Amino acid sequence: MSKIYKPEIFYSDDEDFAAMAAGILFEHFEKATNPLVSFPTGSTPQDTYKELVARYADRRDVWDNMRYLCLDDYAGLPENDERLFKNWLGRQLLDPLKIKNRIVFNSAASDTEAEATRMQDYLDSNGSVDVMILGIGSNGHLAFNEPGSDFDSPTRLVELAQDTIESNARYWGGDISRVPHTGYTLGLGDIMKAKKIFLLVTGEGKADILDKAINGDVTESVPASILQNHPNVTIIADKSALFKFKGPKHG
Ligand code: F6R
Repeated sequence: MSKIYKPEIFYSDDEDFAAMAAGILFEHFEKATNPLVSFPTGSTPQDTYKELVARYADRRDVWDNMRYLCLDDYAGLPENDERLFKNWLGRQLLDPLKIKNRIVFNSAASDTEAEATRMQDYLDSNGSVDVMILGIGSNGHLAFNEPGSDFDSPTRLVELAQDTIESNARYWGGDISRVPHTGYTLGLGDIMKAKKIFLLVTGEGKADILDKAINGDVTESVPASILQNHPNVTIIADKSALFKFKGPKHG
């Protein structure tokens, strides 16, 4: 049986979340040398990214040495499509911070299996991710690792769960027809090899799943519960996301 670890938890009032999260993440980036970093898209980190840009864009020593590795992305869209997570993150974070070194999925690849293998090969030959920043889906997914994903799953093409498709529609004006049904994702196996994991969680709507993931059973039906087996997880949350949380936490 795998060892269970308790994550370190930082929290703040809801309105202070972005400033706190940006400060904690930046402090970590500052200490890293040439780190390979994965960032999530989604609503949770948006203000945190704004804070990183507003407060630290001039720290060229940090951003020039960073390598960005795509955590997940939609498949089957043309390379310049605004919905692609790599383009979304480009607009919000990578372009403003001038992070040039980007290892991304080619969404338009016709051989999807070869594309997933190319990314896995990069990871296998360049060492694991140094700093993995994650959000959590309300069904417990991490990246596009939906409930039922193997805990040792590799980088691969996946079918998105119906609740993920419905939830992603809010990114595109509520139009569900704009949400692709397949995506590439780093696997849970790749996520677990990361040296450091930060999980960003905000809002009451995530309170149940956060408590279940961290205090419930470690089970493939809740992908984020695998984080209990990682020795170096920091959760950065707002008070609303923690209101059902059982167990120790510190501010
Ligand atoms: C996106 C990603 C997803 C999101 C999750 C939470 O790159 O990896 O797993 O982190 O769906 O999304 P929000 O923050 O929109 O609730």
